[in-house]
Amino acid sequence: MITSAKSNAQPQRTILLVDIGQLLTLRSAAKGPRRGASLSELGIIEDAAVLCVGGKIVSVGTTKAALRDPWLKKHRKKVIEIDCGGRVVLPGFVDSHTHPVFAQPRLVDFEKRNSGASYEEIAEAGGGIRSSIDGVRKASKARLTQKVSAALEDFARHGTTTVEAKSGYGLSLEAELKSLEAIRSAAREWPGTVVSTFLGAHVVPPEFRGRSQDYVNLVCNEMIPAVARRKLAQFVDVFCDRGAFSAAETEQIFTAARQRDLAVRGHVGQLSETRLGPLLDYKPASLDHMDHVNDADLANLAESDTVATFVPGANYFLGLASYPNARRFNDAGAAVALATDYNPGSSPTLSMPMAMSLACTHMKMSPAEAIAAATINGAWALRVADRKGSVEAGKDADLAVFDVRDYREIPYWFGANHCALTIVNGAPSVRM
Ligand code: NIG
Ligand code: FE
Repeated sequence: MITSAKSNAQPQRTILLVDIGQLLTLRSAAKGPRRGASLSELGIIEDAAVLCVGGKIVSVGTTKAALRDPWLKKHRKKVIEIDCGGRVVLPGFVDSHTHPVFAQPRLVDFEKRNSGASYEEIAEAGGGIRSSIDGVRKASKARLTQKVSAALEDFARHGTTTVEAKSGYGLSLEAELKSLEAIRSAAREWPGTVVSTFLGAHVVPPEFRGRSQDYVNLVCNEMIPAVARRKLAQFVDVFCDRGAFSAAETEQIFTAARQRDLAVRGHVGQLSETRLGPLLDYKPASLDHMDHVNDADLANLAESDTVATFVPGANYFLGLASYPNARRFNDAGAAVALATDYNPGSSPTLSMPMAMSLACTHMKMSPAEAIAAATINGAWALRVADRKGSVEAGKDADLAVFDVRDYREIPYWFGANHCALTIVNGAPSVRM
């Protein structure tokens, strides 16, 4: 399910942004995600202007040209003009990997990890993902909707206008449907765009302990058909890793998704090396985490349309010394994206600038590469690049205005939110 263009949107709204110090258009003539050297091409226009009509971008150029435009001169009174005062404007971030449907933060796990226990040790002792299940099963749909709505507002405050949202803490038919319905209800009230993903195969829930095949059968035979019938998700995701689901189980789930015309994506190689070869046959839109990937698999990935999505917030929050080697992926020709992985266990942040800052400091991406990975390549990872991820005529009017003079400041000032205004499907959402 992709939810956007709300009934409460004002379709005729006309907005003109002027005096933009640096407009990062991310425009490109190429079809397909950015790879190699093109990842750092931001298509910057200085002293720029953007005109948005009815939720779409209609023209992009210099402020001088916009102010001379005869149509604009004639319709000036109807236009909401936003003077950006030399600030930086870029496409709203596309956060292509989040888990917003949870009831509580996992503070005990946090403390345990900080006194030496690892993510996997905590999970084996009954903490981790399993400790979020109870809260979701007990919560009402209204309560979960409220939680997701609050997160979506916060995403927009940080410059994010498109959010992928996964279920995955209910892990029963009823609680997974409730989670996806909460995403749908929250998405309908939010001016931005939400792409939803069914992650019933996050871990094997406690009542299926030792019977993972039975749980996989439930996911394939009951959950996926119910999700598809209700049109509750566009993607099916699997956590394919040590302690979660095997490659064979993942293939079974991907096959069930394909039978119901649902596209797939995966969590792979976070804790141990996952063989990508067999999974790539299912043409996943994206494979995420990617901490442990061998050279042969990387070569196959580079040949494919699948995006490798890095989530360095998880490495940071789990206190890991190592991060995925983004240079290796980009040099090999793979398409890379960045996402927050917003979730209560491994990455409780919804700040794309924070993810970008980590990508620069710990993964040696340049600020320009991090920006492309967080916008246009995130849009490819969600298969919405025809509408999202760049500032070009015809695309949705999703823009973020940052209170900085140079785009490199966006990942530079870590831990603070410098997003001054977000335009979400043509609606200004936070005032400067
Ligand atoms: O992407 N790795 C699997 N899933 C999440 C973590 C979920 C959790 O710990 O609650 C992730 O990091
Ligand atoms: Fe995740």
